Amino acid sequence: MNGSPLVLRRAEQGDREEFKDAVLAGLVHRPRAIPAKFLYDERGSALFDAICELPEYYLTRVETDILRGCVGDIAAMAGPGCALVEYGSGSSVKSRLLIEAMRGLRAYVPIDISRQHLDATADRLRRDYPGLRVEPVCADYMTLGHLPVDLGDVRRIGFFPGSTIGNLTPVEATAFLRRARNVLGASGAMVLGADLRKDPRRLHDAYNDSAGVTAQFTLNLLRRMNRELEANFDLAAFAHEAFYNPVEGRIEIYCRSLRPQTVTVAGRSFAFDEGERIHTEYSYKYDDAGIAMLARSAGFSIARTWTDPARLFAVVYLVVTP
Ligand code: AVJ
Repeated sequence: MNGSPLVLRRAEQGDREEFKDAVLAGLVHRPRAIPAKFLYDERGSALFDAICELPEYYLTRVETDILRGCVGDIAAMAGPGCALVEYGSGSSVKSRLLIEAMRGLRAYVPIDISRQHLDATADRLRRDYPGLRVEPVCADYMTLGHLPVDLGDVRRIGFFPGSTIGNLTPVEATAFLRRARNVLGASGAMVLGADLRKDPRRLHDAYNDSAGVTAQFTLNLLRRMNRELEANFDLAAFAHEAFYNPVEGRIEIYCRSLRPQTVTVAGRSFAFDEGERIHTEYSYKYDDAGIAMLARSAGFSIARTWTDPARLFAVVYLVVTP
């Protein structure tokens, strides 16, 4: 079906063109910046899975614990016979908690940009939950305006875990949630996971792990450009840089040039000064007021919030404001 070599090759070609356009535009832009979604090639996705296991990276563990405790409440608030729509179907551990808790689930709709990732997830879920209707949608959830799936008029519950919202600027986050609100409809709801503001030291350590896995994850973007765009980045001449910006309430992540150097990417040259950076990620940290403002600006209201005892992370249940 979709796995025929020709179709696959064409999709890869399209991905590569998109990557090339984004990289060339991003390297010309000041400050230089490449969108965070390009960190997730096969190696990048594996490195991110390794980040989730790091002692310093509390986010995944804490959110999973919160979800274990609140999926019963979420299922009760959603009511029986809903469709679950997951934005960026990452670790299916969290989706499974919801799938198992929600009674009479009509369909599970994972949305992801990676066809391979999506098909693998769908296959595993169909195997483990025979009878569950799984409708994968291969799309960039940032721009998806409607679901190309007929779900009838069942209530749609969105799921956007993992603090992925943190990669988005407030303007982007509002735009994303507004679009999701339209996709989910007037009776819809959204389960959102957001990392909370806390001791800056703790935040700093989560993005500067002692094993250097996060550094590998950041620098993998250069490796990807070398492989896919015939670039010649010297990985030893750039460093991962991550710090907490308390004014903006976000972690900022960059690749920093360790010396003056010229790099070729897709046949074009780019001169870097010593210390010059390529921005790769923001990771916004929220407080209660910030979450409430974000929800309101996108046409949602907070029905309920769950946190861990140390208030490191929050899971919120947003309902569409009438
Ligand atoms: C996947 C965006 C939630 O911001 O914590 C982790 C990505 N980058 N370490 C985060 C990330 C470096 C992660 N998100």
